[in-house]
Order: sequence, then structure tokens, then C-alpha cells
Amino acid sequence: MKDKELLTLAIESSCDETSVALVAGGRRVLSNIIASQIDVHKAFGGVVPEIASRHHLENINRVTDHALSDAGVTMDDVDFFSVTMGPGLVGALLIGVATAKAYSLATGKPLVGVHHIQGHISANYIEHPDLKPPFMALVVSGGHTSIVRVDDYNSCVSLGQTRDDAVGEAFDKVARVIGLGYPGGPLIDKLAKEGRPDAIPFKRVFLDDGSLDFSFSGIKTGVMNYVNSEKQAGRQVNTADVAASFQEAVLDVIVEKSVQAAIDNNEDKLVVAGGVAANSRLREKLKEACDEKGIGLMIPSPILCTDNAAMIGAAGYYKYMAGEEAGLDLDAYAQMAF
Ligand code: KG4
Ligand code: ZN
Repeated sequence: MKDKELLTLAIESSCDETSVALVAGGRRVLSNIIASQIDVHKAFGGVVPEIASRHHLENINRVTDHALSDAGVTMDDVDFFSVTMGPGLVGALLIGVATAKAYSLATGKPLVGVHHIQGHISANYIEHPDLKPPFMALVVSGGHTSIVRVDDYNSCVSLGQTRDDAVGEAFDKVARVIGLGYPGGPLIDKLAKEGRPDAIPFKRVFLDDGSLDFSFSGIKTGVMNYVNSEKQAGRQVNTADVAASFQEAVLDVIVEKSVQAAIDNNEDKLVVAGGVAANSRLREKLKEACDEKGIGLMIPSPILCTDNAAMIGAAGYYKYMAGEEAGLDLDAYAQMAF
């Protein structure tokens, strides 16, 4: 295996998932262990950074052992280490980065730092073996909403991004307003199936002059105002209708802009990445729009949409092949340009 397919041990710890994966040749996943802390943070209605860091520290070695044994390999088989260096919660990222540096130092094997969003996009290389740049990518996560033109494995241009909240953040905030738990995205996805998407005409915010930027803070306020005015009028709020109408308004904009970006840039492939790509209605709407325009649509299965280390291994592979090694001075960054 070694000569043909380089093996990376990849680590992801940017938010509330401690994940370690073994990935061969950038695309073949031997193991992908994800220890989620959702249950811990649920009680607080969101991720508490200090608690996330502490849990990463408690979990990381155990998750690594599990990933190695699941893959049926040992540290001796690993060729290099890949780790998320940002963006994310800096204390959480530091646990992954420090662990990867320790493994690299102890084994004398190289280290690669990976941009988290590059990782999300690269999840598509795992499930679509023939996928190669160039393509258009829609990145929709808890921290990012961007339309990215991917020119090569390590080269991309952001064509538009959110000017305020990320789309996943809007899902989570609206879920809180209508009394759902955390994380709100999957709960809204589920509840929306019981509601009418045209029940409440929430505003679609397209912004001016054909911009590919997004804005989601207005719709969050729109939902809050709607819920408050219904309560004040003594009417019971139909939360399923709110969930379905909110979701539809947000997704209408995302779908239209990403498909338009592919057409305007003569890209015949649209690749979707990030936690919100797990949304069942987004998947349906994108499929319909892409089929109509003759654009090939690629979305990873839900487990590879949300945070995981396999995607970091895929991105790390292409960075390593391009000679982009990191030193032991590799740091973690809360913010990182993309
Ligand atoms: O990519 P991700 O796991 O973490 C970040 O890098 O941010 O994305 C997490 C976000 C959360 O906001 C979560 O509510 C949202 O993805 N999400 C969803 C769904 N599954 C996860 N949003 C809508 N529908 C879903 N099915
Ligand atoms: Zn993510």
C-alpha cells in the first residue's frame, strides 16, 4: 500500500467533534472515528469553548487508538499527519494541533496543516472518485457560507460569502426561537417536513446587483418578530410552518445563487460541503435546479458533511503532494482567510 497510496492520520478538533481518521491516497477511508460532544453542550444551548477543549483533551488519544485499530494499521504504517489548523475555536483547535505535532515529533514523520473549509470541500473527493477540479463549490456550515470556485486542489477563489450570520448559525438561532434544542439544523430539517413551506412569506434576501454574497441575519429577526407578534395576538405558533417557511426562504437564495455562479463561470459541476449540506430539503432543491440546468451535482453523504477527520485527510493529502509541509511551529487560528 505504502508506495502507491500514502497513508495519513488526520485529526479534526475545530468545534465539538473530536475526530481521527486514516485515509489512503487521499480518497480511501480506512477509518473515521467521530466522538461527538453534542450531548455535553446541549444543556447549554450551544458549544461552550472551554468544555469543548477539555473534552478534546480527554478524548484525543483514545479516539486515535480507536481509529488505528479500526483501520487495522499502526503508527508505523502512517506516512504523514494532517490536522485542522483553523478556522474554529482556538482552544479546541490547539488540542488537535498539539497532538499532531507530538505524533510528528515522536515518529519523525511530516505534518500538514489543513484549512477546515478546504477539508469540507475535499470530503467530496472521498465519495466521488472521479471528481477533479475545476468545479464550483457551495460551502454551507455553522461558521461559513461561501460560493467558491475551486481551480485546483490547492487553489480556489471565494466569489461570495455571508455578510453576517452563517447559514448553519441562522438555523441554530431560529431553532432556539421556536423552542427546539441544539444543534438546530437537523431539528428544523425534521420538523419542516410536517409544515408548509409557503405558510409564512419570510423575505428572500438576494442583495443588490447580482452579488453572490448572502445575508441571513434579517430572516432570523423576521422569524423572531413573527413569533412575538403571533404570541401577542394570542395565537398559537405553528412551529412546523415556521421551520418549513424559514428553511424554504433561506434555501431558495442559496440554491439560486450557487447554480447561477456555476453557470456564469462555465462550470458544469457543483460540489456542496459543510454541515448544512446534510439538509434533506437543500439536497432535493439543488438536485432539481442542477438537473434543469444540466449541472452535475455532488454532495457527500451526511456523515461526511458534518465535521469529521476523513475530509481533513483528503485535503491534507493534496497539500502534502504539493509539498506544503508544516513545521513544529504550526499554530491554530480562530480566523483564517479562504
Ligand atoms: O460543518 P459543521 O459540522 O461545523 C462547522 O464547521 O460549522 O456544521 C454544523 C452546522 C450546524 O449549524 C448545524 O445546525 C448544521 O450544520 N446542520 C444542519 C443539518 N445538519 C447539520 N443544518 C440544516 N439541516 C441539517 N440537516
Ligand atoms: Zn465544519
